[in-house]
Amino acid sequence: MNNLFDYAQACLHNADIAEKLALTHEAKARCSRGELSLAQLTPVADISHVTFPAQPQWLPPRLVPNRKLTQAGGVAAFFHAIAHIEFMAIYLAWDILYRFRGLPDAFYQDWLNIADEEAQHFEMICRHLQTLGLGYGDLSAHGGLWDHARDTADDVLARLALVPRCMEARGLDVTPGIIKKFAAMNDTASIAVLQRILTDEVGHVERGSYWFNTLCNQQGLEPESHYRQLIRHYYQGGKPKGPFNREMRIIAGFSATELDWLEEASS
Ligand SMILES: [Fe+2]
Ligand SMILES: [Fe+2]
Repeated sequence: MNNLFDYAQACLHNADIAEKLALTHEAKARCSRGELSLAQLTPVADISHVTFPAQPQWLPPRLVPNRKLTQAGGVAAFFHAIAHIEFMAIYLAWDILYRFRGLPDAFYQDWLNIADEEAQHFEMICRHLQTLGLGYGDLSAHGGLWDHARDTADDVLARLALVPRCMEARGLDVTPGIIKKFAAMNDTASIAVLQRILTDEVGHVERGSYWFNTLCNQQGLEPESHYRQLIRHYYQGGKPKGPFNREMRIIAGFSATELDWLEEASS
């Protein structure tokens, strides 16, 4: 394969985890060396062709057991849930790259870098999970993480608003509090893993904000009002979920006006 979109299709239409990780790292390395063409020669297959592994089993969110960190197996269950989020994040990065064509080369390079970082996050979590006696797929997982991708398969602005600027941004809100809980348990290994992910995720949300604003401006849309409109339309019940980490979200490209609106709309 010498074309970035062939790599994207190979990663999205293949459920094998080890192959997906290897192909993701290979695509990133080869693209960095200028070995991959970004020519958009092949058609985009419908999102229903995206293929996932048979394990873990996906359950409706309300049926996923919610264990406290301090309960037996609670830490392992937590990291299994995080492994699933990172695994889905690999798909989400490949899918935004694959599905939306005719954009600047830098858009595709950014999402390839993010796919590669998500693969690193997933591998790091799996190593940590192993020390806790679990493998990815041993427990059931949250089945709702692909819903926003399906809902926004024909609108790149909606995808950017809902995935990096909503789902991933939520990680910036909640992770610092979770790190504090692990600090109270003196679990330094877990803190190191979560801290690394948090640092990278600020960058992913920032790229989401950058491309959302850039593409809105190119289309003559006012980004802040369009963001509000998309969240109202696509987000569950149109009501964003807080509280919000203003400090990190500002670094990740949210404006103070957007954060004021999110706080007001979530209350
Ligand atoms: Fe991640
Ligand atoms: Fe991410």
